[in-house]
Amino acid sequence: MAEIMKTITSIHDMTTWARDRVLNRESIGFVPTMGYLHDGHLSLVKRARSENDAVVASVFVNPTQFGQNEDFTVYPRDPDGDSEKLRSGGVDVLFIPEADELYGQDYETYVELERLPLPLCGKSRPGHFRGVATVVLKLFNIVLPNNAYFGSKDFQQLQVIRRMVRDLNVSTMIVGCPTVREPDGLAMSSRNAYLSPVERKQAICLHDALMIAKGLFDKTETDASVYIKAMKDRITEESDARPDYISLVDPETLEDLPTVKDAALAVMAVKIGKTRLIDNMSLAG
Ligand code: PAF
Repeated sequence: MAEIMKTITSIHDMTTWARDRVLNRESIGFVPTMGYLHDGHLSLVKRARSENDAVVASVFVNPTQFGQNEDFTVYPRDPDGDSEKLRSGGVDVLFIPEADELYGQDYETYVELERLPLPLCGKSRPGHFRGVATVVLKLFNIVLPNNAYFGSKDFQQLQVIRRMVRDLNVSTMIVGCPTVREPDGLAMSSRNAYLSPVERKQAICLHDALMIAKGLFDKTETDASVYIKAMKDRITEESDARPDYISLVDPETLEDLPTVKDAALAVMAVKIGKTRLIDNMSLAG
C-alpha cells in the first residue's frame, strides 16, 4: 500500500476507505490500540504488515472499558509519538475516532459474554470486558478487517474477543501474538509509564514469579497450590507489591485448575504501588 499514512477521524470516511479495499479484493489487517504505543504494539503492526495488503491501526482510549475509579482520565497519551511510530511501522491508515461519534448521547447497545469475563480481571474490573467486546465489535464493523491482531499479555481479553467473534459469526480472524518483554522480563505495557524507578525495579517480580511456575512445571509438579504459594512468595518479597490474583487456569475456559497436567496458564494481576499490572505464561511445552 501507500508510503504515506492517512489519518482518519470520521467513521464514515473510515468505512468508505475500507469498502474500497474490499472492492479491490485487498485484505485489511487491523491493530486496535489505546495509544501510548510501545514495542509490543509495534510487533502487532509488523505482523499485520507482513500478512495483509493494507494495515489500519486505531488509537482510542475507550471510556466504556474503564471503571469509575480507574485511570481513564489520566491514561497516558502521546498522539504525535504514536502517529510517528505507526507511520514508520508501515501503517496505511491511523483511525482516531471521536468518543462522541462512537458513543452518541442515546447509546444503549453493549456486547456481554456470560462466563469468560467473570474470573481473574473481571472480578476486580466488573464491566471491563463488556466495554472491550463492545468497542472491538464496533471497530470491526467500521474497519472491516480480515485479520485483527492482539497481544497475549491481555490473555483474558484475547479469549473474550475470540469467543465473541465465534459466537456472533464475525468474519474477522483473530491473531494472538506473543507478549513482548523488556530485557529484564517485564511485559511491555502502556501502564509501565506510571511506575516510579523503585517500583519499576520491583515490577520484575511478576516475570520472576512466572519463571518460578515454569520451573515447577518443568519438574513435573502437579499441585496448583504449590505453584501459587511459590509465586505469591516471590511477589510479596517486594515491599510495594500486592497480588490481586494469582492462578493456574485452563487457557480455554479460564477456570482454575487444581491439578496441572497438560495445558495450563499461569496468570496474575499485581498492584505495584498504585499501578495494576498483569502478566501470564503458558506452562505447556
Ligand atoms: O488492549 C487494548 O488496548 C484495548 O483493550 C483494545 C483492544 C484496543 C480495546 O479498547
